[in-house]
Amino acid sequence: MTDRSQTSMTDRSQISEFFDSEAGQWSERYARDPRFARRFEKIASLLDRIAPSVPGRALDAGCGTGVFSRYLAARGWDVTAFDASQEMIETAIASSQNFSIEFIQATDQSYESHGQTFNLILSLSALEYVEDDEAAIQKFYQLLKPGGLLVVSVPNKAGMLRKMEGMVFGIRTASCDRLFGKRGEYLKFQKRQYTPLELDILMRQHGMKKKRCIFLSGGLVRPRWLLPFLERRWWAAMYCAVYEKK
Ligand SMILES: C[S@@+](CC[C@H](N)C(=O)[O-])C[C@H]1O[C@@H](n2cnc3c(N)ncnc32)[C@H](O)[C@@H]1O
Repeated sequence: MTDRSQTSMTDRSQISEFFDSEAGQWSERYARDPRFARRFEKIASLLDRIAPSVPGRALDAGCGTGVFSRYLAARGWDVTAFDASQEMIETAIASSQNFSIEFIQATDQSYESHGQTFNLILSLSALEYVEDDEAAIQKFYQLLKPGGLLVVSVPNKAGMLRKMEGMVFGIRTASCDRLFGKRGEYLKFQKRQYTPLELDILMRQHGMKKKRCIFLSGGLVRPRWLLPFLERRWWAAMYCAVYEKK
């Protein structure tokens, strides 16, 4: 179902190496880069809308430096978070001294919950990097309590902005990085993207039903008046969907 044509031969260690090198500046991007700030603003507001009145246990899968883990912990969630990158985890721990979040260095497949299940799982901009997305989704299903929610953000294969991003990266690669500098470096490591329908079908096959979906423009965040047009299915570079375990 997913776009396997994008699959590169990049192995796990190269992906972790890339994210290790990003760790030092990752949290700062949410403060400085308007694209990250916009993504945070929209996903945080989605989390507020879907959150039950009594927060429970949450798992942040592929947590990076723990920006969303801290957001949930500040709202009373009991948060566990894991990431494949050691540097991301070390930075997350250093940035979360005032929170009691459990951070673990693990991949989606090596993470061991020791029988713990969760009311909420986040997989934000991570599913496109995992080795086997179906295995990851199956694991999320097992880790969720009945009626629990899975919040996933992924690149939008149907979105014009995403296609343009891919074209820019293609030109960069064809020009041996002489054009567009280091633009879209992360695309080297992404293994797949999904149309909203493809992800819905995949999730349904694994016992999860869509509840909500929001679209994110990704690269373009200005002018602000344009956002309501760009943050739509056929334009947006990414989307964030909420699935419920049936
Ligand atoms: C684009 S970052 C997103 C980080 C965070 N979720 C956020 O939204 O700020 C993707 C993260 O997924 C992690 N990752 C990639 N593959 C993974 C895997 N198989 N298991 C766990 N984490 C993984 C990377 O190390 C990286 O920190």
